[in-house]
Amino acid sequence: MSARIIDGKKVAEEIRAEIKARAASLAKEGLVPGLGVILVGEDPASLSYVSAKEKACAENGLKSFERRLPASATEAELLALVSEFNHDPSIHGILVQLPLPKHIDERKVIAAITPEKDVDGFTPINVGRMVLDEPCFLPCTPAGVVELIKRSGVKTDGARAVVVGRSNIVGKPLMNLLVRRSVNATVTVCHTGTKDLAVHCREADILVACAGKAGLISADMIKPGACVIDVGVNRVEDPGAKNGYRLKGDVDYEGALAVAGWITPVPGGVGPMTITMLLANTVEAAARHKAMQGAFA
Ligand code: GUN
Repeated sequence: MSARIIDGKKVAEEIRAEIKARAASLAKEGLVPGLGVILVGEDPASLSYVSAKEKACAENGLKSFERRLPASATEAELLALVSEFNHDPSIHGILVQLPLPKHIDERKVIAAITPEKDVDGFTPINVGRMVLDEPCFLPCTPAGVVELIKRSGVKTDGARAVVVGRSNIVGKPLMNLLVRRSVNATVTVCHTGTKDLAVHCREADILVACAGKAGLISADMIKPGACVIDVGVNRVEDPGAKNGYRLKGDVDYEGALAVAGWITPVPGGVGPMTITMLLANTVEAAARHKAMQGAFA
């Protein structure tokens, strides 16, 4: 068997066409959706994510407002910037690129973002709304993963899903989205404390790897015909590559191809979907802003 490759770039392009049209229609009415991006420090991966997000904004009719702070910036300086963005009417969505330097309390900074502008879906208010199945901004990577699974025609109702990784950004929210009635999977979350990881993985009809460990999932850990979603983006040394490294997922891709029913490549799988969901949330935030203005006009 050779797995069907889930082309995240293609799916993302389809969705971005809809987002672009929505942004254009808002712009016609005098409202250009704006994303405020804050980057602290010079982490190379963060720099490249931020520039990809800004490029995507420009290509789809959104305006991005980038502010960079040095790695030595204080928590107070960062909080002041978040507050400035909270009050700026041309910014509808705010993204503080993570991780932050160790001396800054990430939780405090995230909690300072106005929930109505929290297009990452990271604030405690939005996380609570997500868990309660209330209208909210969903975190971009988990929302992108669910969208990829659905659009690939994978059966989720009653499926066994195993999520490998319990981060606040991916693993935990994904657990919540997969268990929703609209997806209806039975979910197991594995993490560094899990005994017999392979046994759990082999039970999975849908296996999502989001542990951040290159090649953690080998072919013998995959149930034949399973849908394998690889969220990992790990830099591994490669003297033959232009930058001296290449990107590798959490899954042994070559090995998995022969066993899985569906698989996402790295790069070109989940990555483009994350940015697409961010654009969608930002346009939605702008539309809600406009609706509120209308309500008070
Ligand atoms: N760092 C890694 N992924 C993300 C993300 O989705 N949002 C933010 N803000 N930072 C990240």
